[in-house]
Amino acid sequence: MASRIYAWLDSRLNLKAVEHSLLDEPIPGGASWIYVFGSATLFLFVLQAVTGMFLAIYYAPTPDHAYDSVQFIENQVTFGWFVRGLHHWGASGMVIAVGLHMLQVFLYGAFKPPRELMWMVGVVLLLLVLGFAFTGYLLPWDQTAYWATQVGINMVGTVPLVGDFLVKVMRGGETLGALTLSRFFAVHVLFLPAVIVTGIMLHLFILRRVGPAGPWDEKKAAAGSETFHPRQVYMDAVVMVGVFALLVLLACLVPFPLADKANPADTSFVPVPEWYFLFYYELLKYVHGPLEPVATWILPGLFIAALLLWPFLDWQKTVRAPASRPVGMALGAIFLLVVFSLLGVSLKSLYGVKRADPGVAHGQALFASLGCTGCHRIHGTGGAIGPDLSYVGDERPDREWHMKHFRDPQSVSPGSIMPKFPLSEQELRDLTSYMVSLKKTG
Ligand code: HEC
Repeated sequence: MASRIYAWLDSRLNLKAVEHSLLDEPIPGGASWIYVFGSATLFLFVLQAVTGMFLAIYYAPTPDHAYDSVQFIENQVTFGWFVRGLHHWGASGMVIAVGLHMLQVFLYGAFKPPRELMWMVGVVLLLLVLGFAFTGYLLPWDQTAYWATQVGINMVGTVPLVGDFLVKVMRGGETLGALTLSRFFAVHVLFLPAVIVTGIMLHLFILRRVGPAGPWDEKKAAAGSETFHPRQVYMDAVVMVGVFALLVLLACLVPFPLADKANPADTSFVPVPEWYFLFYYELLKYVHGPLEPVATWILPGLFIAALLLWPFLDWQKTVRAPASRPVGMALGAIFLLVVFSLLGVSLKSLYGVKRADPGVAHGQALFASLGCTGCHRIHGTGGAIGPDLSYVGDERPDREWHMKHFRDPQSVSPGSIMPKFPLSEQELRDLTSYMVSLKKTG
């Protein structure tokens, strides 16, 4: 039956020719697991598109309703939490997949002539993915979203001449508000998808015109090629299933609660960006005053320009084997080292608990189990009834003060509404250790 339908469709649509051109593309040197990252990225893009469509059914892009509509998706809509989880983790997955894909292309010298255009379109696609991440981050309209976006927009404002103009375009007004949110929403769900789909098609079109690069070893490449179908298709499919299974696990097991609803008046909130912007956030901490523009736009501008033009800047136009490109490899390694060191330092100062003092870890556990989080926020998580405790160790380094405060909040803070907790001496000490460990310099 199926084969008769296929034969009929083939007689009308000439499907065999399409099939041949889709599946029989030769891969020099044969199929390999190292080539899977491009299709993994494409798969994640499709997943983001599909989950995004379902989220858009319930999401309301206005400051009055955005936060509640995301809460509604999370708590009321059947499988809403699951779809939102996939979309959330899919975004991270996309950044990782793009990163690995670029790493492979860089390592294999696959960006070299005649594939310069494919690389350049790829860099534009990377920027579009980051654009998706940036615009999507604001949409839940919680404190983290609001203040992280504020930081991002302020950075754009430091660009000379056009900075103010760009800020106005991004915000849609004098302050970050309703116009900004609808703008970010429109860009996230209409403009960027249209541009990125065009970019992806261009990327694939160029791939088909110049062909896959294959291994860097000429002898291996010349030893024979293999068609895309069946082995590469199989490898790509296995990886896609694996990626999907991982995202399902993450969506089911790792919750990512919203912070409080965005409060434009609460300027004390310290936003934390997504992990893939963290290295950059860390870098910004080290520059102040006249040096600030270096980090906010000079360095990123130069880096993006260099990345885009890398196939032309790279002086070894024909050498592809990594061993014969020591300087190029060293540059790539230094870049990764800097990024991951900054990321490590940032994660440590955000989440690191001093190993030397087990009391700190116990105090942290107590903080969660006693419900302190209901009133206090640490790095964006928790309520806003009491003070933000992210850096209370800097503000109040005095252990005695904390012990007294915990025994009887009113004795040191007259009129405090913080309740007295029945704590043992050990618990008092550990909670205090945790409090004084909360410092800017982990
Ligand atoms: C019902 C809300 C509420 C709960 C629950 C609560 N606090 Fe507080 N907390 C406050 C308020 C309000 C203040 C500010 C007044 C004061 O200093 O007592 C405060 C102040 C503090 C301060 C001093 C901060 C500063 O910079 O002055 C610390 C430290 C603190 N709380 C820790 C805790 C810990 C640890 C817990 C859990 C055992 C906890 N709080 C539970 C409301 C709360």
